[in-house]
Amino acid sequence: MKTLKPVDWIPAQADDAVPGHLRILDQTLLPSETVFIETTDQEAIWHAIKILQVRGAPAIGVTAAMGVAAAAQDQRAGTIEDVRDAVDRAADYLATSRPTAVNLFWALDRMRRAAHASSAASGEALACELVREAIAVRDEDLAMCRAIGEHGAALLKDGDTVLTHCNAGGLATSGYGTALAPVYVAQEEGKRVSVYADETRPLLQGARLTTWELMEAGVDVTLICDNMAAQVMKEGRIDIVFVGADRIAANGDAANKIGTYGVALLAKAHGIPFYVLAPTSTIDPDAVTGAEIPIEERGAEEITEGFGRRTAPEAVKVYAPAFDVTPAELITGIITEDGVHNPGSLPL
Ligand code: MRU
Repeated sequence: MKTLKPVDWIPAQADDAVPGHLRILDQTLLPSETVFIETTDQEAIWHAIKILQVRGAPAIGVTAAMGVAAAAQDQRAGTIEDVRDAVDRAADYLATSRPTAVNLFWALDRMRRAAHASSAASGEALACELVREAIAVRDEDLAMCRAIGEHGAALLKDGDTVLTHCNAGGLATSGYGTALAPVYVAQEEGKRVSVYADETRPLLQGARLTTWELMEAGVDVTLICDNMAAQVMKEGRIDIVFVGADRIAANGDAANKIGTYGVALLAKAHGIPFYVLAPTSTIDPDAVTGAEIPIEERGAEEITEGFGRRTAPEAVKVYAPAFDVTPAELITGIITEDGVHNPGSLPL
């Protein structure tokens, strides 16, 4: 399967990871333009996460890890303490970019711990270790997504149709995605699987990204507006729902893109299995229930003048939560790299 990588570490020379820089695919411009941001600048990396040039919980985590690695690399001529200070500053700063996807904080903590636990002999050696750690975060994410795909594909029969919400595909991870990974694996196994993609108001990740990457991969995909999902289910067009997650609480409640909770209620009403697919790095054992998951609120303009045209009166009051929490009782199963779990008995 070949999709564009949402974020990667590009070494200046093929034989050594340091020096190198981040290459971020600007997803705000998809599907019409393919533009990459090449940077090591902390503000540019923060901004890329904030405005969703790179988005999707696992890809945000990989970007954050690489951002910290870039900060370490910039200090590599200094002492070990200089590099550790740079890591702490970068981790504190990048943590303020978006609140809901726990993979961001998971990756920042991992980089911070690696910096402080290292017995590297110099600033240069420590910076190299941290760049390798960030690359490992990327590679492990790819392996987890592949495993999620294999577990999920076992639930798909030849001819099945999946409904998905937002984009939890290759563009949201290091490859394969989470919710879309079973579709890609099933395709590799020779099963014919079709997808209905909710467009996902207000930022249209479903319309702009999910349809695009599935079409690139040759998967049969049909775009619907979010408010069509009930009718499409009632018409018997959907066999199974697969969605991703930004943070899963210890009791199995799962936060994902706004609208997911509604899809789960619809699936329940129509007797359609509803699965959440995510790597274990998306499980937050510190959040006992979904009520403890912070929900990002975004700017009103994303609703009132998304993509440049005003579609609501000036000064209208707007409420714009970017995520919602699906209660565990609406979730048939949570699929991680370890297998299919009952939402009430997650590997914590
Ligand atoms: O605001 P976004 O586009 O970052 O939201 C993305 C989602 O909600 C995804 O479903 C989730 O991060 C899982 S990505 C594998």
